[in-house]
Amino acid sequence: MACFLSFTVFTLFFTHFSIFFNTINGVFIEEVVEDIAIKRDDKMTHLHFYFHDIVGGKNPSVVRIAGPPDSFIGNFGNTMMADDLLTEGPKPTSKLVGKAQGLYAMAAQNDMALLMVMNFVFLEVSIMECISILGRNAVLNDQREMPIVGGNGFFRFARGYALAHTISADFSTGDAIVEYNVYNRWAAGPSKRSFGTTMMADDPLTEGPEASSKLVGRAQGIYALASQHDIGLLVVMNFAFLKGIYNGSALSILGRNPILDRVREMPIVGGSGVFRYARGYALAKTVQFNQKTGNAVVEYNVSVLHF
Ligand SMILES: *[C@@H]1O[C@H](CO)[C@@H](O)[C@H](O)[C@H]1NC(C)=O
Ligand SMILES: *[C@@H]1O[C@H](CO)[C@@H](O)[C@H](O)[C@H]1NC(C)=O
Repeated sequence: MACFLSFTVFTLFFTHFSIFFNTINGVFIEEVVEDIAIKRDDKMTHLHFYFHDIVGGKNPSVVRIAGPPDSFIGNFGNTMMADDLLTEGPKPTSKLVGKAQGLYAMAAQNDMALLMVMNFVFLEVSIMECISILGRNAVLNDQREMPIVGGNGFFRFARGYALAHTISADFSTGDAIVEYNVYNRWAAGPSKRSFGTTMMADDPLTEGPEASSKLVGRAQGIYALASQHDIGLLVVMNFAFLKGIYNGSALSILGRNPILDRVREMPIVGGSGVFRYARGYALAKTVQFNQKTGNAVVEYNVSVLHF
């Protein structure tokens, strides 16, 4: 029997013209009104990462944009623009999780206290999300607290605080590695009303990411908001193929798709035609997302065993 078993791996792109996200956005707007009034769907997130501020050397991540002439970096008035790496661990080579982009300025005459105006952009979610910090950073203190004053995307209406703790500082160059713990309260996730929202889709599957790319099939089926606490979809779909030896064959997917994760895995539970008795998995990654229209292009790698 085993000799009839074949293993097929292919990549395809799923172009998703969706009103689904519009629906969610619409609900988000309503939800906010509700949240302000009742404060019930608020959620708390905790983010932990390390911030690398490289002031000296050949590849600094900051540039001085204003300040008194002939001054040291720590002098009152000096203002720096930073594009600093945020990593998972304390080493600069550790996994990149985002960037800290914005400015900090020496805002105290008799102290080492910075005015921080920064956005932390995170890469770990499929849609780029950022949170905004505006606060005072007394860098010589062991622990500093700064307010999170807002955010976008999933962090829209974020409110919270960041705790910063310097792990290492080189006083000759000014380079520093700072540990951040960020606690964030934000009104997110589907409300009780959007929970259960169910859509029928008939989306094109193409060879490449462009809409004009060669059509190889269609994704036909249902996706539904099946989680009350995050944006996790129940996906029940068939990928019906239209080209070459796969023409007329289909694969069936039944799985969970937490769309804000960078890569999602869903089981292939069956198939027809050349994919009879198929078993496998699909890896999905959002490569394009338009927040206004809700249209998305999703890359799929599908690996299946079949007879
Ligand atoms: C796929 O199969 C259908 C039905 O058998 C046929 O009409 C169509 O021309 C085929 N398409 C290709 C590209 O082979
Ligand atoms: C699919 O495979 C390609 C090539 O191996 C890889 O570059 C891409 O990141 C993969 N995408 C997903 C969603 O697994």
